[in-house]
Amino acid sequence: MENKELYRRAVEAMKNSYAPFSKFTVGAVLLTKDGKLFTGVNVENSSFGGTICAERTAYVKAVSEGFREFDRIAIACNEGAAWPCGICRQFMYEFGSDLKVITGDDEENLKMMTLQELLPEGFKL
Ligand code: THU
Repeated sequence: MENKELYRRAVEAMKNSYAPFSKFTVGAVLLTKDGKLFTGVNVENSSFGGTICAERTAYVKAVSEGFREFDRIAIACNEGAAWPCGICRQFMYEFGSDLKVITGDDEENLKMMTLQELLPEGFKL
């Protein structure tokens, strides 16, 4: 699947974001190495620390369904390009730093970086 299409699906997924506190809505689409797609959104909580980001939602859905090898993740946000936060970078690193991360202001202006570039010398036991 092309990056544009993946990003479009992240925009679509973003509609389910639950972000009543920050109003910062995020959608993610994670593509496994064998071609399966998992969506994720940020889900905020009155106890703010309970909030989960869109990227981790997508990963948790995928891993809990038995998928651990990922090719790409596209991230869309209501405020333009959204690179993953530090916690998400570390969370994703667990499953491989060759992941390609795609985001942008719109589908005509997408940027792509590997997780290795976004988190050099990441932590792994
Ligand atoms: N958020 C994400 O979903 N992904 C990120 O990588 C950065 C932050 C969410 C968490 C929270 O709901 C809102 O954006 C503001 O931080």
